[in-house]
Amino acid sequence: MASADNSQAVGDAAQAGSQATLWSRRDFFGRLGWAGFGLVSLATVLAGMRSAFPRVLFKPDTTFKAGLLSEFIVGEVNEKFKSDYRVWIIRDLQGLYALYAKCTHLGCTPRWLKAESKFKCPCHGSGFYMSGINFEGPAPRPLERVRVSIADDGQLVVDVGVKYRQENGDWDKPGSFLHA
Ligand code: FES
Repeated sequence: MASADNSQAVGDAAQAGSQATLWSRRDFFGRLGWAGFGLVSLATVLAGMRSAFPRVLFKPDTTFKAGLLSEFIVGEVNEKFKSDYRVWIIRDLQGLYALYAKCTHLGCTPRWLKAESKFKCPCHGSGFYMSGINFEGPAPRPLERVRVSIADDGQLVVDVGVKYRQENGDWDKPGSFLHA
């Protein structure tokens, strides 16, 4: 009789053990489900917040006033704005134009060599006349001009955001040159 009671007790214990394992598995999968739900909800909320604050790209101002035309000497390359705006302003007998100081080979910044009257790129040796036309080295095309105009107060306005390419015929367009 005692032996029968013992085996009954062992059976009950085994059943209770497997029941406990079953519950702990259910508990685990239940928690996993809630965690997944929480992550999906969080992602949805974040996506909503992102669309409420769209990304805006702020472009730096590309336009600046460079002074009066009379401040630019005929036959000289003015380098005053090269470090801030990457342009040279050049006045010749016909008028004035601004060249973008970026080599048309691979984008280095050329130097103005006054004694040789040319722009020379330090990277691979391209050379450009004062007009911006390329004549030596690997640069495949002239330097680009940028937009020039006159403001109401008589000052020269330069916009480095507008470029003119000689090989496209852009140097004939208004804005690429100021007759003065
Ligand atoms: S980047 Fe100017 S010559 Fe190559």
